[in-house]
Amino acid sequence: MIAFLCVETVTLKEIYHRLLPASIRYPIGHARRSAVDSWARWRTPGAPLPPRHMLRSVQMTPWIWEYLQVGCATAEAVRSALSSSGLGSLGDSPPRVLDFGCGLGRTLRFLLDTGWLLEGCDIDFQSIEWLRGALPDLAVEVNEINPPLPYPDHHFDGLYAVSVFTHFDRPEQDRWAAEVARVVRPGGLVLVTSMGPHALTGFEQVDIPAHREALSRNGFFFDPAQADSEEFNARGAFHTKEGLGSIFGPHFHLLRHESGGVDGFQDLTVFRARE
Ligand SMILES: C[S@@+](CC[C@H](N)C(=O)[O-])C[C@H]1O[C@@H](n2cnc3c(N)ncnc32)[C@H](O)[C@@H]1O
Repeated sequence: MIAFLCVETVTLKEIYHRLLPASIRYPIGHARRSAVDSWARWRTPGAPLPPRHMLRSVQMTPWIWEYLQVGCATAEAVRSALSSSGLGSLGDSPPRVLDFGCGLGRTLRFLLDTGWLLEGCDIDFQSIEWLRGALPDLAVEVNEINPPLPYPDHHFDGLYAVSVFTHFDRPEQDRWAAEVARVVRPGGLVLVTSMGPHALTGFEQVDIPAHREALSRNGFFFDPAQADSEEFNARGAFHTKEGLGSIFGPHFHLLRHESGGVDGFQDLTVFRARE
C-alpha cells in the first residue's frame, strides 16, 4: 500500500528524469525547444527575423520566441513611458528618436507604428548590416566604441537605450551619458533601462553581501567577469536610483523611475535634458 501511494505521487516528469541521464535529456530538450522555436519563426508575420546564431549578440539564448517576447514587452514600456512623459509635444513634427545600442532591432521593430522618426545605432557592424537588410527603410548607423556618435548636436527629441548601460563600466557610463546629452535637444527625453538591487538575485555568483554593500554604498556596481570579460554582454552594471542620478544628473533631470519597469526585471528611468 505504501509503495502504491509513493508511485502515485511521482509525476511523469520525475519518472522521465529518473529513467534518462542528463546526457540524453539535454539533447532531447534542445531538440524540443528548437522545434517550438522554428514554429514561432514560421508563424510570425512581418519583417524578417534574425538567424539563430546572431541572437547571442543581444540575449543569453538562441531562441526567437525570447527575442520577440522581450522585444514586444520592452517596446510597450518604452512607448508608454516616452509618450506619457510628453515626447509627442516636444516639437511640431513627429519626434525624432534614436535607439542607442539597437542591436538586432529587438525593440525597434515593435515601435515602427508609433509615427516617431526612428533611427538606430550600434557598435556591432554585423547587427547593423543585418538590420539594413531586414528593415531597409530604417536609418541605422554603426558607431565607434567611444563617443562621438555620428549625429549633430541636439539632433533627437528622444533617445532610449535598452540593456546598454547595464554593461558599461563607470568611466563608460559617464562618457556615454554626456554623449547622449549632446545628441538630444534641450528639454528632450532619454529613457534608460538598468539593473537595480533586485536584479542581482538573477545572478547567483554575483549576488553576494560584499557586492550588495558596494551597490548600496556607491549607487553603482560593475562586475567585469560574469563570464568572459571581453564579451560586452557578459559584463554586468548595476545601479540604484541614486547611482543613476549621479551619472545622468549633470546633464538631465530625473522625471520617473520604475523599479522593474521592464518586464519586472530591469528598471526604467526617464530623464529630461537640461535646458
Ligand atoms: C544586450 S544588447 C541589447 C541590444 C538591444 N538594445 C536590445 O534590447 O535588443 C547590448 C547592445 O549594445 C551594443 N553596444 C555595446 N557598446 C555600445 C556602444 N558603445 N555604442 C552603441 N552600442 C553599443 C552591443 O553591440 C549590443 O547590441
